[in-house]
Amino acid sequence: MTETAKTRGVESAGFHSPLSFSLDTDVDCLLNESFRAEMKKAYFDHNATTPLDPRVLDEMLPYFKEQWGNPSSVHEWGQEARYGVEKARARLAKLVGASEDNLVFTSGGTEANNTVLLSVARKFAGQGCHMVTSSIEHPAIYRCLARLESEGLVETTYLDPDPSGAVDPRAFEEAIGPNTRLFSLMYANNETGAVQPVKEVARIAAKHGILMHTDTIQALGKVPFDLGEMGLDFASFSAHKLYGPKGIGALYFRDRERVVPLLSGGGQEMKLRSGTENVAGIVGFGAAAELSRIELEAERARLMDLRARLEARLKREIEGFYVCAAEAERLPGTLCACFEGVFGTYVVLDLAEEGVAVSSGSACSANKSEPSHVLLAMGMEPDLAQGAVRFSLGRRTTAEQVDLVADATARVVTKQRAHPPQLDEELDLLSICD
Ligand SMILES: Cc1ncc(COP(=O)(O)O)c(C=O)c1O
Repeated sequence: MTETAKTRGVESAGFHSPLSFSLDTDVDCLLNESFRAEMKKAYFDHNATTPLDPRVLDEMLPYFKEQWGNPSSVHEWGQEARYGVEKARARLAKLVGASEDNLVFTSGGTEANNTVLLSVARKFAGQGCHMVTSSIEHPAIYRCLARLESEGLVETTYLDPDPSGAVDPRAFEEAIGPNTRLFSLMYANNETGAVQPVKEVARIAAKHGILMHTDTIQALGKVPFDLGEMGLDFASFSAHKLYGPKGIGALYFRDRERVVPLLSGGGQEMKLRSGTENVAGIVGFGAAAELSRIELEAERARLMDLRARLEARLKREIEGFYVCAAEAERLPGTLCACFEGVFGTYVVLDLAEEGVAVSSGSACSANKSEPSHVLLAMGMEPDLAQGAVRFSLGRRTTAEQVDLVADATARVVTKQRAHPPQLDEELDLLSICD
């Protein structure tokens, strides 16, 4: 492969790998200069993704090395892999309070969300299909809905949260029309961490014979919930937010007749999700689910303490500082903070220079010219919403890191208030959704 200015490979010591890849120069710079390993001091971006827990990796490795069979095969190789898949399904089922028979593995949360919306749209095709959701959902919901709307398959009502960050369940009831088929409400928001009243909305859905879906992707393993108890029809999960691998998720369904497979193929996963299973990924998801279940309560308490410490330090050091969704029940490790008189995106960039990883609202809304749709929907003034920075703490976060991050943030905010950075219209670089 020819080396170009934009090419970085893993070709070293005579090893010519086909894995060489090419990157835009801008991204190259970020990877090689800002994010060099020795600069990494504190990762406070766990809502974007979490590191793979080494205990999870240990359980996955044999499925790459020795137990590499196809779970659909009847022989020993296949059955070893099948065992790994089914054990993982049982572990996830236990974490979420479902039966194994009602869970299929997918390529991630995006696929699970899309499957639900497309299934309902197709089931009700030609009969009128109205869906009610919130205006603070992840793009894996709202962009999918926008597509279905543009194809004339679905009409959608989007409900704003109140200033606390949570949607009022009564608004769902008020939005019901003759063709309302589905309510979809995320369990907790990825930007503010605000936990939504899914149980109450599910009760309203059941009363009116409407299907109910929740995207639990940010909440899974962080706050306890029981799908069976809530009486939901669908729920979506992803492994990489709970210290599992990327590219693996799952879908819960109450009634298999309600699921229309996205993919046509070999009929794996109870004929609901074709494609040879990502066995090691599934095993990793199962291991991550099991660890989260065992450690959930202790970790929740620890993260709430650390977040309180961070909030107190930031409050002490910085004037014009607000906690978003402060009144709501929030995910234990999430702090969405607004700093007056700065752009969150630039705070994120300066903190990155100091080896601190945070995010400006959701990474989807990191462009300075577009304040987060979530904060605006909560009624926040655009000027204040521009100054949003999301700190998301996790399993390896320590009190020392909290202090370091608070000090670094205070330094950066003070500096940027005194010397506002030159605004750069090219900052779309960061507009990747998490
Ligand atoms: C709330 C929410 N839903 C869906 C997704 C998409 O999940 P995945 O990255 O597994 O496709 C994410 C994160 O990426 C998320 O935070």
